[in-house]
Amino acid sequence: EALLGQPQTLAGRHIVVTSGPTHEPIDPVRYIANRSSGRQGHAIAAALAALGARVTLVSGPVTIADPAGITVRRVETAREMLAAVEDALPADAAVFVAAVADWRAEETATRKLKKAAGTTPALALTENPDILATIGHRPDRPLLVVGFAAETDDLLANARRKLDRKGADAIVANDVSSEHGVMGGADNTVHIVTRDGVEAWPKLDKSEVARRLAAWVAERLQGGDT
Ligand code: CTP
Ligand code: CA
Repeated sequence: EALLGQPQTLAGRHIVVTSGPTHEPIDPVRYIANRSSGRQGHAIAAALAALGARVTLVSGPVTIADPAGITVRRVETAREMLAAVEDALPADAAVFVAAVADWRAEETATRKLKKAAGTTPALALTENPDILATIGHRPDRPLLVVGFAAETDDLLANARRKLDRKGADAIVANDVSSEHGVMGGADNTVHIVTRDGVEAWPKLDKSEVARRLAAWVAERLQGGDT
């Protein structure tokens, strides 16, 4: 609805967005996953498209609808998500909103693990690739690389560390301690952490965070000060 009437400040730009969780299989019926509805990532993809960007949305398994007018690549695992993002490049900007599982089972059983009296299976884990860090450190990286940091403690310090470690230009820091009800809820209170400092945004619903972030991305790309 908001498509008409908005200045097309991202016309001609290609932007990649990751959203949702990843699912890391343990066996044919079980998986490891993060809690993520995909609402924030999908809303950001839609808001960027509303400003005229060509958007590739790389989404893990979610139950919400695909945003209209956007190319959606559906993936299950972190490794598939990384491959789909690399496939979508080049891009002018990339926004990594997905709640990627940090670990996967070292081995995926091809047969369902069965219960046996008196024993529990030992689950050996291995680390998944960091998609944001991989892209953030590529020599041909997008001009603007934005990540999210969901934290329950030391929000801004952790966000700042992630900015440096992952080679991002901005981290949207999100307090997900349970009293804020962010997970699965409508509202978000975020801070934008860049090398220039910290911008505190008021409590906004996720679509409003998305619109503001899309406008922020447009401004940064236009300013060329990335
Ligand atoms: N991210 C990613 N690939 C991963 C893990 C995280 O692309 N394997 C991205 C997320 O999409 C987000 C940012 O990195 O934009 C921060 O994710 P987060 O889980 O907060 O950071 P981690 O580095 O995994 O640290 P931790 O979970 O220990 O806080
Ligand atoms: Ca993580």
